[in-house]
Amino acid sequence: MNLPPSFFDELRARTSLAAVAARKVTWDSRKSNPGKGDMWAACPFHQEKSASFHVDDRKGFYYCFGCHAKGDAIGFVKETENVSFMEAVEILAREAGMQMPARDPKAVARAQERAGLSDIVEMAVKFYRGQLSGAKAAAARDYISRRGLSKQTVERFEIGYAPAGRTVLFEHLRGKGIDAKDIVASGVAAQPDSGDPYDRFRDRIVFPIRDARGRAISLGGRAMDPNARAKYLNGPETELFDKGRALYNHGPAREAAGKTQSLVVAEGYMDVIALAQAGIGHAVAPLGTAITQGQLALMWRITDEPVIALDGDKAGIRAAQRLIDVALPMLQPGKSLRFCMMPAGQDPDDLIRESGASAMHALLDGARPMVELLWERETEGRVFDSPERRAALDADLRKLLQMIEDPSIRNHYAAALREKRQALFGGNRNRRGGFGKGVPWRPKGAPEPASAGARASFLAREAHALDDHVRLRESAIIAGCLNHPDIALKLEASLERLPMACADLITVRDVLLFHLTSPLHHDASAAVEATMTQIGYDARERLNTLGNVRVARHLAPEADATVAQAAILEEMAKLTAEMGIRDEVRDAEEDLHGVADEGVTWRLQQASLARDRALRGYKDEDAETGGEQELSDHLSRLIAEQVWIKKR
Ligand code: UTP
Ligand code: MN
Repeated sequence: MNLPPSFFDELRARTSLAAVAARKVTWDSRKSNPGKGDMWAACPFHQEKSASFHVDDRKGFYYCFGCHAKGDAIGFVKETENVSFMEAVEILAREAGMQMPARDPKAVARAQERAGLSDIVEMAVKFYRGQLSGAKAAAARDYISRRGLSKQTVERFEIGYAPAGRTVLFEHLRGKGIDAKDIVASGVAAQPDSGDPYDRFRDRIVFPIRDARGRAISLGGRAMDPNARAKYLNGPETELFDKGRALYNHGPAREAAGKTQSLVVAEGYMDVIALAQAGIGHAVAPLGTAITQGQLALMWRITDEPVIALDGDKAGIRAAQRLIDVALPMLQPGKSLRFCMMPAGQDPDDLIRESGASAMHALLDGARPMVELLWERETEGRVFDSPERRAALDADLRKLLQMIEDPSIRNHYAAALREKRQALFGGNRNRRGGFGKGVPWRPKGAPEPASAGARASFLAREAHALDDHVRLRESAIIAGCLNHPDIALKLEASLERLPMACADLITVRDVLLFHLTSPLHHDASAAVEATMTQIGYDARERLNTLGNVRVARHLAPEADATVAQAAILEEMAKLTAEMGIRDEVRDAEEDLHGVADEGVTWRLQQASLARDRALRGYKDEDAETGGEQELSDHLSRLIAEQVWIKKR
């Protein structure tokens, strides 16, 4: 639905972000200045003790100087209540006493359909709960008490019983005037190719599945007969129920997690229920599928380090190990997983029953970081008694590191793995001598290979030169964007993805992009002003007077827009290339290539010399592009030839 800008203007005028945020944070009274609408608190989006979360109530924007979370009241509600943009707008509009404008009829129809289907599932939940106290449910009640579930637990999880008949629920719902096709669409009844719809759950204990906001979206059912074809049956995917994006016990667990700052992820319904009964209410489970990226994203919205408590059987361990590959690309600073391995053959439900809640707490406390599991997965059962085998491990580790998208996380993983690798190989780095048979190829006129010491100091210098260089490049790009905000808006998607290294410039970029894309500003220069206000200093002033930026006339405010756009794009392309090389240099430092290859050393030296020359050129205003040109040719050749990647 497209809401008119006037609607947002009105909503903004009537909404106090400070009031909205105050429901989730506690203001730091020393740092805040309510008179000026200048509020500070510990950030609700990451765990911290200091108050890095800033609300500018007059502007209606927040920004966290720790985790860079940013947005307006709508964004805040969206993130903290786990709702869509439109739902957040509706929540705020309701609070502000505003009428939502008429909606796009298609969206209305869809929302109504979903609401209707949810009502049907809700009716099924109610019906099945009622059935549990009926005469035909004696066996079900027996089963429930054998599994040790208290009356309160049955109530809390709204556990019910689906009677054995083929159409008991179906008839009940039809009797309430519900269309057969809607009953089928809700998932509680199945429609065979030929014949009439029938109840999906028959003679099963049923568990309602609700979304984060408590709306009934499906059901799961457990057979009591050990010989039943499927022990558990989950509702099908429907308009309401997207299995990969749903978690059992999502809403209550999210609430409980807010208090304990942790979240336990178990494998099944009964585990979540047993955990809750043992006082661990902050547990969720996927629904009959392996944990998906969508579910991980939901968990990370709840807490930074969910603890995966998987069954201590082979399947459970395999599931945990597969989960590593799902999680690696999604890791973000602070966001990771921990794993707690259940004793062989036990799940949380079994453990609690046999050894009590304290045993479960002890296991959770001992949960281990993901990197440990990763290492075990890669090394357990393997013998590294030959150079070839050790090299194979290096190759595997490198591949895994490459799956990590966040550069800083990748770095820390590399460091952790390198440490483990050294411990495993007894720290005897000389063994690598076994690799280097014969004399390495070296180009004519190339210097003798550097010693290990020289190599290390060279790498340090190299990294340093790169950092300076990257900073200049990023300053130029950000200055160009601030001087030409319309272009920045056009390039929004690439700017957002641009690999950058300097935290302060990243902040400027993020805040600028936020304001540029906000419906609240009438033009791009207003967005720039809001950006300057929010970051608290005039970045234009600082960046435009940097030596390197001043010479780049193409990026100056008075530059022609076409030229400025080309210049920004060029700088972005170069930065991307350089950041790539920076990663390569880092990899060389990580030494996960295995062999310290003399050829790599020589090439790095050449690149460094060229870069030193280029940096000199950069500082020399007259030699405006000379040095840069040389650098760029040299680097583009290096990149084209991919000389950093060892060819074996
Ligand atoms: P488990 O087989 O580990 O069962 O399945 P459980 O959780 O220990 O259950 P109890 O203790 O025997 O009652 C774990 C989860 O896998 C899904 C369900 O979501 C279940 O909770 N599952 C299992 C199915 O979807 N279908 C099945 O047939 C079995
Ligand atoms: Mn079990």
